[in-house]
Amino acid sequence: MLNGEKKIKRPYRWAMVGGGRTGNVGYKHRLGALRDNTAFELVAGAFDIDYERCKDFGKNLGVSEDRLYPDYKTMFEEEAKRPDGIEVVSIATPNFTHFEITKAALEAGLHVICEKPLFFKVEQGEEIKALAEKMNKIVGVTYGFSGSQLLLQMRQMVKNGDLGDIHMVELQYTHGFACDEIGDKESEGQKWRVDPEKSGPSFVLGDLSTHTFYMSELVCPELKLKELLCDRQSFVKSRAPLEDNAYVMMRYENGAVGRMWASAVNAGCMDGHRIRIVGSKASVEFSDNQPNELLYQVQGEPIRKMIRSMPYLYEECNADERLGALHAEGLPESWANIYLKFAVAMDAKDRGDEETLKNLVYPDINAGIEGIRWVTKCVESADKGGVWVDFE
Ligand code: NAI
Repeated sequence: MLNGEKKIKRPYRWAMVGGGRTGNVGYKHRLGALRDNTAFELVAGAFDIDYERCKDFGKNLGVSEDRLYPDYKTMFEEEAKRPDGIEVVSIATPNFTHFEITKAALEAGLHVICEKPLFFKVEQGEEIKALAEKMNKIVGVTYGFSGSQLLLQMRQMVKNGDLGDIHMVELQYTHGFACDEIGDKESEGQKWRVDPEKSGPSFVLGDLSTHTFYMSELVCPELKLKELLCDRQSFVKSRAPLEDNAYVMMRYENGAVGRMWASAVNAGCMDGHRIRIVGSKASVEFSDNQPNELLYQVQGEPIRKMIRSMPYLYEECNADERLGALHAEGLPESWANIYLKFAVAMDAKDRGDEETLKNLVYPDINAGIEGIRWVTKCVESADKGGVWVDFE
């Protein structure tokens, strides 16, 4: 159980690029990182593309004025001159900026926590992985929904054979917030998402399904994706070639199969993020909007609902428990769990503690690269007319 006690010697001096006042995701980073007050300390920021907004916002967050910067380059330069300069940066800016900011941050000797989809090309991911290794730094990826400890329960159930042999992986991340094109023209956060220059080769595949694909890798680490077939559509025509809906079929090396539905035009859907693993004996299902329970269905037995924090759950799950039974948890705890693991990973890296790093389950650079590979292969399959393509 987590109770806020420190896990590392002292908090890391932390900054953000992006995630400003109008940003969608910035607050989630701060609530994850600052949850326990023992892992991160927010000391600087280039929070906004608009410097005046950055200064006003940063002041209101309590960051001192002389550490609010017009852009990330100035921030990395100026902070490097200080004895108490930043040690880690989170990047919560539109997709097309991730690669250059991550590279500059590593070159400046910082650990990096970056938003998904990490970059546009697998080669960029490999380049950054090599650079991070050279600089002895961590690159974490904020698959923010994946910190729910019930996903670790699922992982243990799969590992322990509770479901039997794994046969099917059912994944869905859908909503209906982009059913029309009003937001494409008016919303700061939506405009860049439908611009291939800024969003990358996909819209919903990168924006939504990378989260759920990582969840499937987290829960079923032994399943190796062999090939996939993707069909993608732009129901709002002006978005083409970027898709607002996609179906992907998967085949794994061991004969298991899977399916992903990613959509921003699933009209009216408010509960469309889920992962269901079907085995030869039983199935288990997690739905993001019911984060306190797992559905466990054994063939021929009454359906069970496993409730968070209960002693019948595996220790690997309850180790990440924060609030205890009877009290609801959700996305804030998921983000806090992930950020805590980023801090533990950075600390282990700084101390040369490879054993801790090897055993730590969190979205690292490899998870980021697999996310890029996933999007690249889905797009390749769809653009060839919906054909099977090898995953590797
Ligand atoms: P947004 O457009 O709502 O916000 C972007 C923020 O970054 C704004 O504050 C903007 O002023 C700032 N910004 C843009 N360019 C900048 C630059 N060069 N330097 C400094 N600041 C800059 O975008 P949103 O929705 O917050 O997405 C940001 C990233 O987070 C994207 O990569 C997106 O895919 C990801 N995301 C991840 C989520 C998750 O659950 N992990 C949820 C939502 C978004």
